[in-house]
Amino acid sequence: MVSRLIVVSNRVAVPEPGRKVAAGGLAVAVNAALKHRTGVWFGWSGNVVDEPADTPTTFERDRVTYSVIDLSNADFQEYYNGFANRVLWPILHYRVDLAEFSRMELTGYFRVNENFADQISKILRPDDVVWVHDYHMMPLARYLRARGHENKIGFFLHIPMPPPDLIQALPRHADIVGALADYDLVGFQTESDRDNFGRYLSSQGALMSRDGFTYDFNGRLVRIATFPVSIETSSFAKTARRSARSTFVREVTDSLAGRRLMIGVDRLDYSKGILHRMEAFERFLRDYPDKRSQVTYLQITPKSRADIPEYASMDQQVSALAGRINGEFGEASGVPMRYVNRTYSRTALAGLYRSARVALVTPLRDGMNLVAKEYVAAQDPEDPGVLILSQFAGALGELGQGALVVNPHEGEGVAAAINRALDMPLDERKARHKLMYEVIERYDIDRWAETFLFALGETRQRLKIFGNLRAMFSL
Ligand code: G6P
Repeated sequence: MVSRLIVVSNRVAVPEPGRKVAAGGLAVAVNAALKHRTGVWFGWSGNVVDEPADTPTTFERDRVTYSVIDLSNADFQEYYNGFANRVLWPILHYRVDLAEFSRMELTGYFRVNENFADQISKILRPDDVVWVHDYHMMPLARYLRARGHENKIGFFLHIPMPPPDLIQALPRHADIVGALADYDLVGFQTESDRDNFGRYLSSQGALMSRDGFTYDFNGRLVRIATFPVSIETSSFAKTARRSARSTFVREVTDSLAGRRLMIGVDRLDYSKGILHRMEAFERFLRDYPDKRSQVTYLQITPKSRADIPEYASMDQQVSALAGRINGEFGEASGVPMRYVNRTYSRTALAGLYRSARVALVTPLRDGMNLVAKEYVAAQDPEDPGVLILSQFAGALGELGQGALVVNPHEGEGVAAAINRALDMPLDERKARHKLMYEVIERYDIDRWAETFLFALGETRQRLKIFGNLRAMFSL
């Protein structure tokens, strides 16, 4: 029997007409990774109900079974809104100041992870390979191991892993971040994320192999590595070519009345640096008055995690700032920025990216940021736009050579980069775009999934060698 791939994540992009798919990169990436495989994608349905059923709802599509469970109101508050998004999310994005910890919410986090383990345990066959995604599910392998499953289990963290000092700000960190050692392989977006985790394990007394990539932590062997997440580069490029000619995109570009389009697309989240970016745009309008009539900035920002106070207050601040900018710099005939809280289809976004002369991707901290990669993929290579990229986006490692790299905390620098992007000659735009496109063409989403699963497949072998060596030298 062919071994199945069991994917587990909080969000599941169930391909059902009318069903809402999560706005983040995870759902898109995992969906693409499962495309050519036989498997199960298990997670939350997105629904909150009074009494969740004990059995998941399943949908079949091609060779994939989508299996989803509802959350109770307490689970939703404690696990999702509480511990995952008010503690883990800020701390892993270096915002310890925003973390709001409560023991009850931590209990809810463990409870939902245990419930996931119980559900998966019912369907798991010995030769299934399990791939768990993101910060919602860090202790899942520990619960599966406790239920006797010795399957190959891998974990990929889509968001950053901060240095050990910040991880230690997390109460019970050894049972959450330390529990990652119960996986065979833990994958990160960047080398710095991987090394931060390695240093954390060492700080907790783990033994490290010579190459620094295998650790023995409380008797379990774990391998750590980097796999920068990517996109379906060539099909996204094709979609962008088609979509740029659509009525929707034409209407948008016609409405610009000759101005160039500058675009930002982010979930409404403090990690994305939307406020800093808008202030930088305000500064650009002030410092470069002759450019005011040349550009319209479109910021597309679907609302996210609206029940969480930090997100609700950010919603107000961003709307107020957009109003202030347009109030100060707008004319009766038009305004410098358009701020839109809508979710557009990937097709519509692809066309907008292709039509935009500049993209602003300036998070304060981001695991990868797939908008940066999608923007590059969508460009016309004969007349490409310019990517302005934060030094704190994981995408920097692959796109840093072709992008205009900025520090999002320095508004003056971001304003100067906008000015430079608008003036950039065609030859330089083409050369920069080529550098970036080549990277994402070579390392697309299929390669990401293949390399992770290949590494997971051979990890046991490597762990055995490390285990034998350690025994030989009785470490
Ligand atoms: C990020 C996370 C994902 C998450 C997504 C959307 O990309 O890495 O795990 O699904 O944001 O956030 P939400 O809370 O709506 O799932």
